Order: sequence, then structure tokens, then C-alpha cells
Amino acid sequence: MIYYKEPVYRPPAEANSLLIQVTEGCSFSCDFCAGNLGKKFLIRNTDDIKKDLINAKKLFGDYYRKMFLLDGNAFVIPADMLVEIADFSYELFPKLKRISAYAHAKDILAKSHQELQKISDSGVKMVYLGIETGDDDLLTQINKRVTSDEIAEAAHKLYKANISLSATIILGLAGNDKEKSKKHAQKTAQLINRLVPENNMAWYISALTLMIPPQTRIYNKYKTQEFVPLTHIEILEELRYFMLNLNDNLERCIFRSNHASNYLPLESNNLARNKDKLIEQINFALNNTDILRNESFRGL
Ligand SMILES: C[S@@+](CC[C@H](N)C(=O)[O-])C[C@H]1O[C@@H](n2cnc3c(N)ncnc32)[C@H](O)[C@@H]1O
Repeated sequence: MIYYKEPVYRPPAEANSLLIQVTEGCSFSCDFCAGNLGKKFLIRNTDDIKKDLINAKKLFGDYYRKMFLLDGNAFVIPADMLVEIADFSYELFPKLKRISAYAHAKDILAKSHQELQKISDSGVKMVYLGIETGDDDLLTQINKRVTSDEIAEAAHKLYKANISLSATIILGLAGNDKEKSKKHAQKTAQLINRLVPENNMAWYISALTLMIPPQTRIYNKYKTQEFVPLTHIEILEELRYFMLNLNDNLERCIFRSNHASNYLPLESNNLARNKDKLIEQINFALNNTDILRNESFRGL
């Protein structure tokens, strides 16, 4: 048996990865996130994690090439513990090529370059970072507990240690105030423009669209109409404005909006080359809204 504290969330790209619960919940508490509802944050005991890895080996043999560490910010665990888990995993699973985890920017900043380098050398090669927005006022409002400068610093610290960045932004996060929505799109694009890796490594940006899960703080604001969500049309307009504010040098940026929360799935392996094409696709969708994902099929 492998232990899981349900519900668990993982990025779409980790659908074929071995999921191992190393923490439960998240040590942060963002207004939109259901990830730690009903979970008290904790770091699991290393021996219990190793037992799960041994059980996974018995169940699946050498099947897995990728492993994802649960839960909401598993990268918070101390560097030595991450390295110990990674070393143990690579020894057990000879075909393993990559370990990854969700991180809050502060989890990265709390580690020294030497620690990040050791983590990277041990095979933890990708970090999923929730940027959400580049608008500092909005970051404060959603209780993200980080600034856009800190997010940029965290990303560049990862690159320096040769750890890949996969970052998420949330469309619709500012609600239906036109000015706030534009500011969110513009500041987010400006932050993304600052994240180009100096070492030319590939990096990933995924756009999600805000979901309002029951019991979250944003849900309470939605119920009292303090927060009014964008319509699907306004979401596309926000996405287009975001795109228009991106620089033209994002060659190595792989952009996706293929998460189930989105109305329009987009994909580009070279944002510099394909930006105009993506904007055309958004314009087409704005004129043909029947191609958009139906509200009832959206999910997290
Ligand atoms: C499980 S969370 C972990 C985030 C990580 N702890 C951090 O602070 O960066 C993964 C990502 O899913 C996205 N997400 C979570 N709840 C969401 C919601 N209600 N609507 C849209 N996206 C959401 C956010 O981009 C979030 O960063």
C-alpha cells in the first residue's frame, strides 16, 4: 500500500508520474486554493516515505520514469531530506529520469545556492511554482505572501542550480473590475518578461483559469459578491492583453493553457515565434465561442 492523504493535486504533466506523499497540505494558504482544506500541514517521516517507495517498487517494478512529490509545497522540506529521498528513489527505480515538486517562491528563497545545487544534483530537476499574478497588490490581496520581485529572484535561483521552472498564472484572479483585470494581465506579462533564463534553458508557463472551490476564502467573497468572476469572453480578453504585453524574446518559453480549468486550450513551444498565432486563435475563439470548453467540463 502507498499512503495518500486525499484529495491530492498534481500538475497535468505529471499524469504518468509516481506520486509520493512527502508532505500533507501546504504551509501557505492562498485565498483561491482548496489544496489544504481539511489538511493540517505536516512533513512526513522519512522512514514512512521510504516504506512507500519500497511498496511502489513491489507494485510497479521499474515502470516509472518520473516522480512527483506531493503535496502543495513539498519543496519546503529541508535540502538534506529532499536529497535523501531522491538518492533512495533513484537507487530503487533505475529508469527514473526526473523528480519534481510544487514550491512556493519562499521555499526556494529559503534555500542557499549550495543547497539548491545539491538538490539538483540529486535529480530533483523541475519545480512547479505558482506565480498567479505579477501584480503586487493582487498578490497581497490573495494572501500569496510573496512579491513579484521575490518570485523573479526565486526563478533565477532555480536556473542557477540548473533546476527547470514550470510556473502557473491564474486568469480571472482580479475579478470583473476592468482596470484591475488589465493591471493583472499587464503586470503578470511584465513579470514573465523578467523570467527569461540567462543560461538559455527551456522554461514553462501555464495559464489556468480561476475556479472558485467551496470553502475557500475567495468562495466566501464570491458568495457576498465582493468578488465577481470574469465571464468566459472577459477571460479571453484578459489572456489576449497578457499576450500583447509579453516581450518578443521568449524563444525558450513553452506556453500552455491545456489545464482543465481553461476555456480555450493553447500550446506553443516557442512563445517568441508563435505569439501572434496564439493571439489569432484567441480572436477566433472570441468570434466563435461555441468552440470554448463548456462550464460544466471545467475543473481543477
Ligand atoms: C496546488 S497549488 C500549489 C502552489 C504552490 N504551493 C505555490 O505556492 O506556488 C498549484 C497551482 O494550482 C493553481 N490553482 C490552485 N487553485 C486554483 C484555483 N482555484 N483556480 C485556478 N488555479 C488554481 C495555482 O496556480 C497554484 O499555484
